Amino acid sequence: MCACAPAQVGTFTEWKDGAMPVVSLCSTKGGVGKTTLAICLAAAYAARGGTVAILDADPNGHVRAWHEAAARERRGCGVDVVAGVKEDTLQDAIATAVERYQLVLLDLEGAASKAVTFAIAESDLVVIPSGISGMDLQEVFRTHAEVRRASKMLRREIPARVVFTRMSPILSRVAKHARQEIADAGIPILDTTTIQRPNAYQSMHFNGLTPLHAEGDPKAAAEMERALDEILALIAPAEEAA
Ligand SMILES: Nc1ncnc2c1ncn2[C@@H]1O[C@H](COP(=O)(O)OP(=O)(O)O)[C@@H](O)[C@H]1O
Ligand SMILES: [Mg+2]
Repeated sequence: MCACAPAQVGTFTEWKDGAMPVVSLCSTKGGVGKTTLAICLAAAYAARGGTVAILDADPNGHVRAWHEAAARERRGCGVDVVAGVKEDTLQDAIATAVERYQLVLLDLEGAASKAVTFAIAESDLVVIPSGISGMDLQEVFRTHAEVRRASKMLRREIPARVVFTRMSPILSRVAKHARQEIADAGIPILDTTTIQRPNAYQSMHFNGLTPLHAEGDPKAAAEMERALDEILALIAPAEEAA
């Protein structure tokens, strides 16, 4: 039985034929919130009635661990996980997943690797989570440069968006500065940020509980819903001119 909260917020998008959205959570840095976002965005999408898979392409297998915990605790939430995706199986795994699911999320390792490059190349949108430290910003630039290189190689625009994660609830000067620095470099940023909420997010891997479950943290759920709304708006197929 699924213990998900009922879909409350936003709309669920029906993709037109041929549109197969693949969204990568990508950063050359670990610990910035990729896996947390992958799981929570997938859970939010599933709670709206969409079919969604996360391809776990991080050798650490954190998504798989969460999924196993969720199954153990009977907290299945309509999210499928394809575990153990590696450099040599990534492209086929994506090709299979886009046939079966309306949304495919890729959780990647925090490094620059061939698997990451392949994932970027297959993506309709690359989401780059980041904190606000100088080190984090440096990795945003590095990650974004990887996206640009892939775009040039493929001669197609691969959209990318930074999302600030684990923020203080009060916007600090450092946070404003970080946002400005990314914006000045011409890298677009999601309006939504995730706030530092240890209770809401850090127990997920032990008990499978995401904020999207009925007993999850409603404020965390709301920020994930907002992030999902922004992402869906970005990858929704453009309206055809009448
Ligand atoms: N908004 C948040 N509030 C509190 N802890 C968070 C938040 N986002 C992520 N975390 C925690 O930070 C750590 C790193 O996050 P994770 O999603 O695993 O990053 P990555 O996949 O980029 O390595 C994890 O322990 C996770 O639970
Ligand atoms: Mg991770």
